[in-house]
Amino acid sequence: MSNVYSYQQIAEHNSAEDIWIVVDGKVYDVTKFMDEHPGGDEIILDLAGQDASEPFRDIGHSEEALKILNTLCVGRVDINSKPVEVETPETSSQGTHTTGGEGSGKLVIACAIVFFIVAYYFANSL
Ligand code: HEM
Repeated sequence: MSNVYSYQQIAEHNSAEDIWIVVDGKVYDVTKFMDEHPGGDEIILDLAGQDASEPFRDIGHSEEALKILNTLCVGRVDINSKPVEVETPETSSQGTHTTGGEGSGKLVIACAIVFFIVAYYFANSL
């Protein structure tokens, strides 16, 4: 594996369609693996284009996870480059907003239905 990338170059791979992460000085293209990740895709999206060594280690990933990681290696980090600020995709927050909106919309409809049933009952019982 002879490709060497600076943190700046790695940071450019930070969209849902193209994700690289760094683990212990090596660069991994996790774009295709995202959907299969047992820990979910959002957790990796949050680290897109960045050094994920610590979070990866903290989880205590298995030997199997390390084997998968090896298959995704595309190169190593240029030791002379410095980590840069990376903006990560905003898919997670958008998703939450949509779900919240739908939830309250359904609640309003449910309340309206209950109101009309009660109103109908009262109208008929007079
Ligand atoms: C390409 C990099 C990665 C690979 C190949 C990978 C692979 C895996 C695999 C195979 C598992 C199942 C459990 C195990 O075998 O250890 C797992 C679980 C998990 N991973 Fe990753 N992982 C990667 C990156 C990350 C990163 C950067 C995080 C960030 C914190 C993360 C968080 C988790 C979590 C939280 C679980 C636990 C899921 C659960 O048990 O409910 N992973 N990962």
